Amino acid sequence: MYLSREEESILQGEQGDTMRRMMEILVALGDIYGAERLMPVRSAQIAGVSFKNIGEAGLEWISDLRGRVAVPSILNPAGMDLERWREMGIDGDFAARQREVVRAYERLGITPDCTCTPYQIHRGIVKEGDHLAWSESSAVSYANSVIGARTNREGGPSALAAALVGKTPLYGYHLDENRRQTHVIVVDADLKGADYSALGFLVGRIVKDGVPLFRLRARPEKDELKALGAAMAASGSVALYFVEGVTPGPGSGSTSLGKDLGEEKGGKINQGIDKKIDKEIAEKIALGRKDINEVYDKFPAGDAEIVALGCPHCSRSELERIAGLLEGRNARKELWICTARRTAEACPDLVARIERSGAKVVCDTCMVVSPASERFRKMLVNSGKALAYIPGLCGVEAGFASTEDCIRVAEEE
Ligand code: F3S
Repeated sequence: MYLSREEESILQGEQGDTMRRMMEILVALGDIYGAERLMPVRSAQIAGVSFKNIGEAGLEWISDLRGRVAVPSILNPAGMDLERWREMGIDGDFAARQREVVRAYERLGITPDCTCTPYQIHRGIVKEGDHLAWSESSAVSYANSVIGARTNREGGPSALAAALVGKTPLYGYHLDENRRQTHVIVVDADLKGADYSALGFLVGRIVKDGVPLFRLRARPEKDELKALGAAMAASGSVALYFVEGVTPGPGSGSTSLGKDLGEEKGGKINQGIDKKIDKEIAEKIALGRKDINEVYDKFPAGDAEIVALGCPHCSRSELERIAGLLEGRNARKELWICTARRTAEACPDLVARIERSGAKVVCDTCMVVSPASERFRKMLVNSGKALAYIPGLCGVEAGFASTEDCIRVAEEE
């Protein structure tokens, strides 16, 4: 990989040992994937925060680093609510180690926001066309697909290296040639809410690391796109998808797919160009209501002991909806609503309305990365990503239902 004089000098250790080690990571990655050169990034989002996942060895590695990040950088969810960890049933030893991890990152100049939805809380951390070094798979999918930015799914060390150096190797989803659809998914059903999670759960399994292009009947909301991408990233390893007429298109990263294809008024796509696109792709898959319903049927609520919403972290509008659904109701089961601390702090009234029902608004963490989930036998979720990860990563059985049904189940004794 080509290195500028300054990059070469960092590699020779002229800016200290930490920077040398970070540059070594970037060069190794670039060499493995055949990158031509390094590319400046606008921001970094760093995984490897939950002490449950990184343990003592990870904490030691991070604590050993010196320096300041070169670009705005924030963290993935931690293993607990950094303030209300006792209410989650987290023990004091874990809490102390977790706080040390966050402090070690903070010493490097990283903002201690622990969230998988950086785009919901920091305007300016990403915009269309930006190159990024983000780690968390749902955030990567959202940035690539909905915002039209460009990022690979970084590991914790490579995102941290990019944060400190301010650059990442130019390969993978940074390049036009890897941002073309591999499958067309035609969905002949009216979708709403958790249906998008179910759809993502199915499609991720089918396309694996492909780039699906969806033809949907109606325009999904942003939170529905967030859920769709998160589910595909977990049940498969999809890092980029398109929704015809909705998301930014392949190629330039600066025009909408609808415009690329000659979108007509009312969201219809020009049929001639439509056919041309079909010929170029590898596979066309049709899914309907029956397929979506099978996901709900296969993972029933059963005797779930806990209900957890907010994977990916809830937006303000999702908190609003949940507060409305919980009005005048009583959560008899443990009910967690996961969100970013900044999102919760921006709407204390909504948090109070939700918690009046007995639910807990849980910040900085989530049902998958916190060890607090492990004391339950079965968890009910409205997220395809949580559905895919909870059994393997938490050893907890998972059920799947719409948000309304999740709240109904949380009310039951
Ligand atoms: Fe976020 Fe945790 Fe889900 S990191 S996407 S809430 S698994």
